[in-house]
Amino acid sequence: MIPTLTWTPEGVRFIDQTRLPLEESYVLATTYEQVADVIVTMVVRGAPAIGVSAAYGVALGAKNSQASTVAEFAPEFERICARLAATRPTAVNLFWAIDRMKSLFAKLAGAGASLAQIQEKLLAEAHAMYDEDIAACKTMGAHGAALLPDECGVLTHCNAGALATCGYGTALGVIRAAVEHGKKIHVYADETRPFLQGARLTAWELMADHILTTVICDNMAASLMRQGKIQAVVVGADRIAANGDAANKIGTYNVAILAREHSIPFYVAAPWSTIDLATATGDAIPIEERPAKEVTHHAGKQLTPNGVGICNPAFDVTPAKYITAIITERGVMRAPYFESLKEMELVS
Ligand code: MRU
Repeated sequence: MIPTLTWTPEGVRFIDQTRLPLEESYVLATTYEQVADVIVTMVVRGAPAIGVSAAYGVALGAKNSQASTVAEFAPEFERICARLAATRPTAVNLFWAIDRMKSLFAKLAGAGASLAQIQEKLLAEAHAMYDEDIAACKTMGAHGAALLPDECGVLTHCNAGALATCGYGTALGVIRAAVEHGKKIHVYADETRPFLQGARLTAWELMADHILTTVICDNMAASLMRQGKIQAVVVGADRIAANGDAANKIGTYNVAILAREHSIPFYVAAPWSTIDLATATGDAIPIEERPAKEVTHHAGKQLTPNGVGICNPAFDVTPAKYITAIITERGVMRAPYFESLKEMELVS
């Protein structure tokens, strides 16, 4: 299995996703500040993976603390959580994971636990989130695989794979499960400008699993759909609002509109930790603006004239009306999402 992130006695070890696929190297974060840095610089990326990374960051911050009492540690704990929460704004999994760590801390501190017990339990909670994430991916994979024809072309955007999770993947989990069930899947991976998660990461991890994969430039999807090469679109999500609007990598919205025009089903696969029922619609989802240099440069080389205006939103929101179904580990939901998500909230 691809080791997206691993807890070690020295800290958290990340495969460096900025260097794949040409170089398989690792970054060891030994402090919570370093964990925050690897999230900001996208050494680790993908909504579920950054959530679990942040949880390990909190556990690491607690482990490294010089405090001798819980009361002394409490303000430090707040600073650790605030630093990790300030890394990337769009994926709700990050805040979900930090809130889970905060609730545990409050519960343990309230019950009079010692600092050593709190340190141990925070780490155990991060481990639990790691295991739950892989289990969720596998379950949603099985739910989603049933939706795909026995033989088909599947378009995906960005990387919602093992590298974006603790393993197996969400959208790519659906594809992996379909292949494991004997379906013949040809994956078309959008290259995903400007960070090239599709060309670099999706292609790399699917090839490692010997799944037939073709990388296309982002502007080729319509043409392939028209040629009848794509029977389904499966993407991940960073945050799904209560009405089903889904934020995902910039360019996802384009693909959804194209899929509708060509009568191709458009599926969103995400763990329940990506559902944000507190956010009513996609309009309220914060969209991260990334550095201009990701657009102006490629592999250290400048592509654009000096001084030109640049816009680099990392995500867009696909309105719920374009989404055929939302696949989670709890099951498959269909419109109206306001109702189906609410109903599914009661299932655990
Ligand atoms: O900017 P990134 O690479 O973190 O964006 C990732 C995506 O948009 C993924 O599709 C999403 O997080 C789902 S990952 C299972």
